[in-house]
Amino acid sequence: MTTLGTPLSPHATKVMLLGSGELGKEVLIALQRLGVETIAVDRYENAPGQQVAHHARTITMSDPAQLKALIEAERPHLVVPEIEAIATPMLEELEAAGVVRVIPTARAARLTMDREGIRVLAAETLGLPTSPYKFCNSLEELQAAIDAGIGYPCIVKPVMSSSGKGQSKIDGPADVPKAWDYAMAGGRVSHGRVIVEGFIDFDYEITQLTVRSVGADGQIATSFCDPIGHVQVSGDYVESWQPHPMHPAALEKSRQIAKAVTDNLGGQGLFGVELFVKGQDVWFSEVSPRPHDTGLVTLCTQHQSEFELHARAILGLPVDTSLRNPGASAVIYGGMEAQGIVFDGVDEALRVPGTDLRLFGKPESFAKRRMGVALARAADVDAARTNAKLAASKVKPRKA
Ligand SMILES: Nc1ncnc2c1ncn2[C@@H]1O[C@H](COP(=O)(O)OP(=O)(O)OP(=O)(O)O)[C@@H](O)[C@H]1O
Ligand SMILES: [Mg+2]
Repeated sequence: MTTLGTPLSPHATKVMLLGSGELGKEVLIALQRLGVETIAVDRYENAPGQQVAHHARTITMSDPAQLKALIEAERPHLVVPEIEAIATPMLEELEAAGVVRVIPTARAARLTMDREGIRVLAAETLGLPTSPYKFCNSLEELQAAIDAGIGYPCIVKPVMSSSGKGQSKIDGPADVPKAWDYAMAGGRVSHGRVIVEGFIDFDYEITQLTVRSVGADGQIATSFCDPIGHVQVSGDYVESWQPHPMHPAALEKSRQIAKAVTDNLGGQGLFGVELFVKGQDVWFSEVSPRPHDTGLVTLCTQHQSEFELHARAILGLPVDTSLRNPGASAVIYGGMEAQGIVFDGVDEALRVPGTDLRLFGKPESFAKRRMGVALARAADVDAARTNAKLAASKVKPRKA
């Protein structure tokens, strides 16, 4: 039996989000609706999730001492990582000492905090199909790896980066030095290590949202959302839709891969499994042990969005992953560097039939920073994509 408390009382159920961006904000809202007391942590003040939580804390989450001090001071029942750049060995320590439960597990947070742990687990331990790959510590090692079998074209990514930062495609020998330099400039921490991956010429890529939740029998059950299709530009998601039509054999393989990875990572919660598909072949790319950015579309397509599913799963509550209607999302970028920007045309955007909008409330805009997302539901995915992009295009960020 699950018992939930009253927030701001001695019997509150307390959940701490480590990372409070747009995805964390939606998880926090879902938790708030269940009367959970929420603590939103981020590296900067007034992060989107901090604006809707009971408590806001600003620390450097990659600093083990700061992380430990905060968790010990707040004593949440659950710690929910929402970003990768966290001192995960400290989370493992605190979990092992019984101080706190980490979602889905501290080990999963550590294995997915960079590209290496999860790739080695998927390809070598679990034997799942992935692109051919090699980890390299220098330009010379990178060139040698390409010559020894990765070949051209290939993709170079810093081991520690997300949203396509520092990532580039190499078409021939002339591109290798600039790909290395670009990766060194774009990594989250400059420890000079990259992964080079053979280029998969996929027909399409999907996110398979996968939920591990407690069933009526008290056992963990795995359930799947309909596949989400998406378009990435320079490694960053710009558009997503659900459901993405798939050959039944490819869908079956996708779910087998998703099950194998999430079974191994364990715990409770929602995962975003990224897969490449060509015909009936499926490759594992990576996994987020938390809601996925392309899954923002579920805010307008499912009975329970990926954020509600995550909130329910981590609290031990039942989930319903069913689709309600087809839909699409389109990202709204800041397009400029400025503080406290304003958005013109919100009314025009919302006049597009079946649309909705999320403006994340980020205090500072960058040219390529995701500031909002347009959502559209429609009778089919094509109409939804058209309307989501149309609505997004009507929102015009500008300096105040
Ligand atoms: N080996 C590959 N072959 C072909 N395309 C690839 C390959 N690796 C990555 N890509 C493309 O680049 C995109 C981003 O790659 P990846 O997911 O590894 O990076 P990321 O920085 O973690 O991105 P995000 O944080 O947005 O998920 C993929 O979704 C895919 O479109
Ligand atoms: Mg990715």
